[in-house]
Amino acid sequence: MAYLAPSILAADFTKLSQQIRAVELGNCDFIHCDIMDGQFVPNLTFGPLVISALKKITNIPLDVHLMINNPQNLIPKFAEAGANIITVHQENNDHLDGVIQQIKELNLKAGVAINPATSVETLLPVLQNVDLVLVMSVNPGFGGQSFIEYTLDKIIQLDNLKKNNNYKYYIEVDGGITKANIQKVKNAGCNIIVAGTAVFGNEDITKTTVELKNLLME
Ligand code: DX5
Ligand code: ZN
Repeated sequence: MAYLAPSILAADFTKLSQQIRAVELGNCDFIHCDIMDGQFVPNLTFGPLVISALKKITNIPLDVHLMINNPQNLIPKFAEAGANIITVHQENNDHLDGVIQQIKELNLKAGVAINPATSVETLLPVLQNVDLVLVMSVNPGFGGQSFIEYTLDKIIQLDNLKKNNNYKYYIEVDGGITKANIQKVKNAGCNIIVAGTAVFGNEDITKTTVELKNLLME
């Protein structure tokens, strides 16, 4: 059993409330929100304004993935807007421990993300403190890319570390998830699975959400 987090990066923003309703009807578990600043990644998305708008139309927990430089400056704004989980990247973050504490002090779940080329070892000091580890299975910035196979080894590694040390974090995977590979990442130890194009790239969003959820329950 693993949770499904549709990423609204692939949604039609002119119909956002209808599309949120469609994933709700499919019993999704989280709404994944990709925040990009055009600096840390070569793309620009949205900010706290959209998070507070989502909060007004859904009770599904908001999983906020910050792909931004200096996340500490904006974390209070995302908390105030209604984020439930805030995940920051390990890369380009000189104050990772402090940022994780900052998120937890706001009574939110704190996650840390690693890009495909970043090793799990770089997270060893913080694994005992985080609620979630996000393994990027594509290079961050865009939806619709292909799953990078070697990231599966990092999921297995994180699952082993979790079992051997009795750590409590959820393992989340993000990028290139399809009906064809979703069970593979679940079986490797993932607890939360992000899917953008696989969910919102379809005519019938509710039906696809149900199908992906069923694959996670098998
Ligand atoms: C990429 C984002 C992902 C993206 C995934 O930088 O972090 O969350 O929305 O999109 P798909 O599922 O289309 O690869
Ligand atoms: Zn993401």
